[in-house]
Amino acid sequence: MRLDKYLSHLQIGTRSEVRALIRGRKVTVDGQLVRDAGLAVGPSNLVCIDKKPVAGAMTVDYLLNKPAGVVTATTDASAKTVLDLIAPADRRPGLFPVGRLDKDTTGLLLLTTDGALGHRLLAPKHHVPKTYLATLTQPLTPVMKAALEAGVTFKTFTSAPARVTLLTPTRVEITIHEGKFHQVKRMFHAVGTEVSALQRVQMGPLRLPAELKVGTYRRLTAAESAALRK
Ligand code: URA
Repeated sequence: MRLDKYLSHLQIGTRSEVRALIRGRKVTVDGQLVRDAGLAVGPSNLVCIDKKPVAGAMTVDYLLNKPAGVVTATTDASAKTVLDLIAPADRRPGLFPVGRLDKDTTGLLLLTTDGALGHRLLAPKHHVPKTYLATLTQPLTPVMKAALEAGVTFKTFTSAPARVTLLTPTRVEITIHEGKFHQVKRMFHAVGTEVSALQRVQMGPLRLPAELKVGTYRRLTAAESAALRK
């Protein structure tokens, strides 16, 4: 979206008022002074006026219990997206999902308008832990468990040691520290079993609330928001 439109959507001012701010050299995008009111900005950009992030006043964070069959994207030509699950009155410019769950994966997904927060949570250097409940086609043996806990080597990366708890031999809780494509499914495949169902139950300090029905969402509590930004 154009920068001037984005800022007026955020109710910073009318289009001509926000253009005056841009001309007045008050607006930066990702730390760079901007003079072009038509610059394309999106949820991943950090937009500041007088060095203060503009998202602040409008920031919303939603915790969604993602159902299967919905894609983690803001738009899609044919499939239903996680944004379609947000009621029109709750949608905000720049709302986006933090990270990605596969179409068939269920569970905890954070949506926020805070691009800087999204960047921090996804940055590999922060190693934000993510916990999943995996249902497996073959029981996890002690040897397989030890391999996951040691770290699995793929062509392009080696996973950090995972924390693995067997609830039953085919129902396993696993905590990983990266967010590579299909990572959990690939890790189990690499040690000799397959995932038949996957649910994310935790990301950093956020836990999937037991009472949050599949397909529904709620705003983060003040305590959850603060814990996430610590
Ligand atoms: N790992 C996967 O394999 N799939 C997901 O959706 C998330 C993590």
